[in-house]
Amino acid sequence: MSLSATSIICVLGGSGFVGRQVCAALAARGLRLRVPTRDRDRAKHLTMLPTAELLAADVHDLATLHRLLQGCDAVINLVGVLHGGRGNTSFAAGHTELARTLVAACRETGVRRLLHMSSLNAATDAPSAYLRSKGEAEGVVRESGLDVTIFRPSIVFGREDKFLNLFAQMLKQFPLLIVPSAAARFQPVYVGDVARVFADALPCQDSIGQSYDLCGPRAYTMLELAQFVARTTGYQRPIFGADELLTNIMAFAMECLPGKVMSLDNVRSMSVDSVCNNGCTLPFGIAAAGVEATVTAWLGNQSPRGRYALFRDRTRRTS
Ligand SMILES: NC(=O)c1ccc[n+]([C@@H]2O[C@H](COP(=O)([O-])OP(=O)(O)OC[C@H]3O[C@@H](n4cnc5c(N)ncnc54)[C@H](OP(=O)(O)O)[C@@H]3O)[C@@H](O)[C@H]2O)c1
Repeated sequence: MSLSATSIICVLGGSGFVGRQVCAALAARGLRLRVPTRDRDRAKHLTMLPTAELLAADVHDLATLHRLLQGCDAVINLVGVLHGGRGNTSFAAGHTELARTLVAACRETGVRRLLHMSSLNAATDAPSAYLRSKGEAEGVVRESGLDVTIFRPSIVFGREDKFLNLFAQMLKQFPLLIVPSAAARFQPVYVGDVARVFADALPCQDSIGQSYDLCGPRAYTMLELAQFVARTTGYQRPIFGADELLTNIMAFAMECLPGKVMSLDNVRSMSVDSVCNNGCTLPFGIAAAGVEATVTAWLGNQSPRGRYALFRDRTRRTS
């Protein structure tokens, strides 16, 4: 499909961690964006993008989606629900049902191009309700007859992620860290790379009908990532890996707390390795950024000891 400065792209989930980077990448290419959100205040950072229009809207409502898609050249669905609520019903609503409503709205409005965000390991027989609903949503968009491209990242990292930053926060606050699902394996992919993949895929005819697994250059266990964050921030605390029983107890306890840091369903998701079988090859010739080379820019030397070491290094360098 050919895109121009008059093309309008509707981005569902554009206000989130991945969404804001995708929006920035599309805006940098001069595209006009229509971004619905449940809470305009929370998403107001997007008003900094000169071509973005932010709208308070309920994307689950077909008539609302129909209005949102009017005049659009393509739609990107990044909506993601990480915690499913009682009986995990929010996963079906946020992933499968939304995909159905979106496909219906695309048909009504004649919007053919759909970029759909899924997750590595999404499958209808996956061990967690999150991954099963993502797998069902993939089925819905794949069978829609629209010009669909699907993206399946491992865990996504970046300056505003809720993963490495959470380790950093816990290491700062607590005298020791117990890491749940310590042996779970991930191949973290940089959010800036994910955003580029979306922006490159959008006009690419060859990407229609494709499903891309997105991974970074290296796989790590959860424990290794926590240890890496400790080294990088300078908050060197004793770090222990929790076994299966303790992991489940921790997840159960955290499920009951406000903030929903972790749930039993998350633990089930992590029972399958989130790594790419193809090693690490991002599409469109994008060279994947590694955790070590990237994260130090925002997590580096946070502790007083780390800041002192940095200060000492700098003074040595200038003296
Ligand atoms: N981050 C990762 O490591 C990772 C890994 C694999 C796959 N993914 C997938 O990538 C996508 C983006 O993830 P993210 O990390 O950017 O998530 P996020 O920061 O939590 O953002 C989620 C987005 O979805 C919207 N949203 C959430 N629940 C919704 C609901 N019930 N109804 C309507 N909108 C809702 C939010 O919009 P408002 O709050 O503005 O309405 C927000 O824009 C998701 O599909 C996620 O499953 C992420």
